[in-house]
Parts: sequence; C-alpha cells; structure tokens
Amino acid sequence: MLEDPNTNECPPPLGDMSAEEFRRYGHELIDWIADYFDHIEDFPVLAQIEPGDLKSQLPSTPPEQGESMAAILADVDRLIVPALTHWSHPSFFAYFATSTSAPGIFGELLSAAFDVKSMLWRTSPASTELEEVTLDWLRQMLGLDAGLSGFIYDTASVSSMHAIAAAREGVELRIREEGMSGRSDLPLLRVYASEQAHSSIDKGIITLGLGQRSLRKITTDKDFRMDPKALADAIDEDKRNGILPFCVVATVGTTSTSSIDPVPDIVPICEKHAMWLHVDAAYGGSAAIVPEMRHVLEGCHRADSLVLNPHKWLFTPFDLSVLYCRHLDLLRRAFSLVPEYLRTPEQEKVRSGSDYGVQLGRRFRALKLWMIIRYFGHEGLAARIREHCRLAQVFASWIEASPDWELMAPTPFALVCFRACPKIDGERGEVRAKRLDGLNEAIMHGVNATGKALLSHTKLNDKLTLRLSIGNIRTTEKHVTQVWDLLNEQLKKLTG
Ligand SMILES: Cc1ncc(COP(=O)(O)O)c(C=O)c1O
Repeated sequence: MLEDPNTNECPPPLGDMSAEEFRRYGHELIDWIADYFDHIEDFPVLAQIEPGDLKSQLPSTPPEQGESMAAILADVDRLIVPALTHWSHPSFFAYFATSTSAPGIFGELLSAAFDVKSMLWRTSPASTELEEVTLDWLRQMLGLDAGLSGFIYDTASVSSMHAIAAAREGVELRIREEGMSGRSDLPLLRVYASEQAHSSIDKGIITLGLGQRSLRKITTDKDFRMDPKALADAIDEDKRNGILPFCVVATVGTTSTSSIDPVPDIVPICEKHAMWLHVDAAYGGSAAIVPEMRHVLEGCHRADSLVLNPHKWLFTPFDLSVLYCRHLDLLRRAFSLVPEYLRTPEQEKVRSGSDYGVQLGRRFRALKLWMIIRYFGHEGLAARIREHCRLAQVFASWIEASPDWELMAPTPFALVCFRACPKIDGERGEVRAKRLDGLNEAIMHGVNATGKALLSHTKLNDKLTLRLSIGNIRTTEKHVTQVWDLLNEQLKKLTG
C-alpha cells in the first residue's frame, strides 16, 4: 500500500504518533482509499479464501515492540484486503446491498478524531444537538410528522428492542422495578409481527426477557404482507385467553421480499386495543425521501415508533440506525438512571443520550449523516434511490420477458426476488420442485464463485428464491446487465 514497509520508523517511546507522521500517512491513506474505489471492480466481490486462512497468517501473540505504520499498512494490503468481502463493490447484490459514500467516510474520520462519548449533553453538546437537528431534517425529508423525535442507535435490532421496551414500559406493570421473573401477578404479554418480520424482533423479545412465546407470528397474503384480519383475530383470541397484547410490529420492506405490511389497516386495530405500533422500516423507509414514493410510509404518522437504517439505503457507513418515537418519555422512563457521578446542573433542560438506552457512551454518529445529507442534498439522495428502483424494474422486466425465469414476489423497492424455472417435458410435482431448488442454489453459487457478482437467497412458499438487491451508490445498468448475463451463463452451463 504505502511506502517502504522496512522503514525503521517506530512509535515514539511516549505519547502518540507525531503530527508530521500522521499527516504523511493520512494523505497516503486517503489516496489509497480513492484508488481502492477506482479499482474496486478488480477485486472478487466474495472473499476467495477458506475459513481460517487469515488466522493462520497472523501471529498468535501480540508484538512486544511497536511497529512502523508502513509495515502495518503493508499487511492491510497483503493480508486484510484478500480476506474482505467487498460490500462497496457495485456488483454486490446480496442481502440488502448497502454502501458507504465519501462524505460518510469523512464523517467517520472526524468522529474517530473527536472520539466523543455522547452520553450527557455536556460531554457532547455537538453530538447531542447535531443529532436532534439532523434527525429532524431526515424526518422532514421522509414526510413524517413533527410528533416523532429521532434517536440514533447502532443497528435496527437495537432500535427495535428499545421500541418494544418503551411499549412495555407503557403497560404500567412495574417491570422496570420488579422484573418479570417470579411474578404470579403478570399475564403473558404479547407482541405481534408477520411471519415475514426480521429475526431482530425475535431477538429483541428474547433480550427483554419476554420469552419467544410472547411473539405471535401473523400469516401473510400472497404478496407476503401481514393479514390485518388474522392480526385482529389473534388479538381477540389472546384477550379471551387472558393474554395481554401490547405491541404490533409492522414491516415496511421485509427482509426476504421487501413487502410492505398494510400499516393503514393495522393502525385502527392498534388503536382499538390501545397497543403500541412499531414500524420496522429499516430497509424500505429510506425510499420515502423520493417524493413519488412517500406512500410507502402511509399510515406511519399514527405509529408510536419507526426504525429506519441510513446504513442500509442512505449511503451511510455502518453503523447508524434511527428510531423515531412519539413517546420519548416512556423510552426515558424505561432506561434513565443517573448515578451521582453523572449528575449535571443542566440535566433537566437538555437531552442526554444515556437516558434513552442501554448504552452509556455513544459514538458521534450524527456527524456522518449530517455531512451526507448536506453533500448530496435531499434531491441528490432521492435521485440515487429512484435510480436503484428503476434498475430493479429493468431487471424484473428481463425476468418477466424470459421463459426460463420467473418473478417470485412483487418489486416495490430495489429488491428483485426470482428464480430459474426451465421446463423439462413430463416432469412434475416434488421432483420438479427439488430439481428447481437445487438448480437455483447451484446457479447462485456459480455466479458467486466467479467473483464478479454476489447474490443471496431466501425461501418463499418453500421454494428456493434468488434475491438481487440494488443499493450500492456505484451500481449502474452496466452491472445489472453483467449479472443478468452471468445468471444466464450459469443456467446454460447447468442445464446444457
Ligand atoms: C427489515 C429489517 N429489519 C431489521 C434488520 C436488522 O438490521 P440491523 O443489522 O441494523 O440490526 C434488517 C436487516 O437486514 C432488516 O432487513
């Protein structure tokens, strides 16, 4: 990567690296990153190594003496880069494809330099106030109402867990004080989510000590959207059985297919039973910044909380998840605990990050999002998301036009669910189903092994389904065409 790794330049006996050395390596590192992005397509998307390969090349004990930065950075080139799966590669189409952006990288760099622990207002006035302002900008861009206040966590898993904790705090069962174990006065508390909801909801429930039986999965329609009638029936049935329903989690952009639960139909059910409505818009929410796509958050102005991940589809380096909440007082009541050593004179007047969650210190994450929104502007961000959705429609139209492929779900955002389905005369039923599952899995592994693109899969109605997710800031129609060619090459190779 950088200069001669055999240089004798070693760390000073005390204190940090000199400013001169920091400046030199800093400049070279920025050059290196710029080159990395320029040549990223030369790397295989999926790391081409075997488990344990990297570990076997690293010393098992720490260095006794400090080493030169040149030597360390040379090892980044030699050892670390080959062991990377390149999420920033424009042909990364797996999971939810996400990517960093230059202003986001600058934000991370500055945040590391400031190294602020955003726990109390006074330990981090800039972080606290920039977070409030930036999240209010984002709220406006999304067309959400001013009753929602934003708060930054690391991931959607953690945001949703905190939302469910706030919902539970609202039930007034003194769970914060007395816990849930050993209590005969507590009914079973119930949370509802569709069978397509992300596993983070299950994990949140486990973490909060509610137990997995507290989560009731609601069936979905043919387009993988929660069935509101089934939800209403489940709540009625639970109530008849002495269970206490307290929270519904609806999803805007489910993980497998990006389906959108019918939030406007779910809202009245929650209102009727005075239940908390949490919306998991971790993936799909970002699309609402595109004016003509605002409808994806229809009904969410009546949600109690909503999570959205800028680290998924707003070009923000991992991690940054936003929880919008209508009842910050409940979140605060669930988590605020101020020991003497954290008491400050201004605490009643200001927001302190540590009051709203499990963590005490928090990273200065708002900085990168603020820089991203300022650099691209609302229009620039919307243009990129709109283009991703257009590319997904283009890809979906190729699938639809081909007799060898079929779409497996609607494409409301920039995720296409599809599979190969070539016909063999006389083949039916289970034999065909098994063959198609095997064929599609082989196609996916074949494409991924080329290193030229990366896809992932899911199961829909028990059928192995391929997923092409477009979300990288560098992805263009050229990359989508390339992966379509790769898929057809694999199909041809495997079916003769
Ligand atoms: C709909 C949905 N919710 C939540 C998550 C969890 O996201 P995180 O990694 O930020 O916890 C995901 C991850 O893909 C997701 O698709």
